[in-house]
Amino acid sequence: MRKRIVAGNWKMNKTLKEGIELAKEIELQVEKQEDKSIGVIIGTPFIHLSEVSKIINHNLISIAAQNCSSEPKGAFTGEVSAEMIKSTGAKYVIIGHSERRSYFDEDNKTMNKKVKLALEQGLKPIFCIGELLDERKQNKQFDVVNKQLNEGLFDLTDEEFSKIILAYEPVWAIGTGETATPQQAQEMHEYIRKLVSENYNAEIADNTTILYGGSCKPSNAQELFANIDVDGGLIGGASLKADDFFEIINSF
Ligand code: PGA
Repeated sequence: MRKRIVAGNWKMNKTLKEGIELAKEIELQVEKQEDKSIGVIIGTPFIHLSEVSKIINHNLISIAAQNCSSEPKGAFTGEVSAEMIKSTGAKYVIIGHSERRSYFDEDNKTMNKKVKLALEQGLKPIFCIGELLDERKQNKQFDVVNKQLNEGLFDLTDEEFSKIILAYEPVWAIGTGETATPQQAQEMHEYIRKLVSENYNAEIADNTTILYGGSCKPSNAQELFANIDVDGGLIGGASLKADDFFEIINSF
């Protein structure tokens, strides 16, 4: 059975003090959660990782970085390596977020290097894919996602790929308030699972967690998560408020 997960992506928000407070608030809520089988992840800025790691119960919440360097170590000013992230107690790393792709010109080849470095360190990548609005208007969304997966992930071995979490995030839905319809999400998630099955096998495809991201909030999480191939969400804006985030976790 694949794992259901709700992951928060705080992006470039929260000072260290605010971040610690938010993590504590989220933990208080998650303690009350009845269904402990749902994985809860918070993706904090780099500087929060080790502090948040010290104060949270890792049995309830796991921590993710939002990015990692495509180089293992050395003279790369300002970069943070997968090994450094691992040393904070984080277990996951978000790779390939559309904001990294568009604002920092990261391509699939760069992401592929990051994924491999993360896996070498025992970190689980949350790999983001998704099309731009123009691409959807031209009905190219499936080709775009196929290319992102092919170039970013599909050279991994079976064992490596089994550690990947996928996040389908249509770029036109991120931070815009416009959400993919449950049908659009299901259609794409089903397509992604089919690609995984073709490139690996049915068992691996069946076990792959595929999250939906893009203006997922308490009011729409339930109808999105009700889809058979939607295994949870990657939550931006709504993960910055403990109550909203918890309501999303409770939407299954
Ligand atoms: P959003 O962001 O929920 O604010 O749309 C999602 C994401 O970028 O992961």
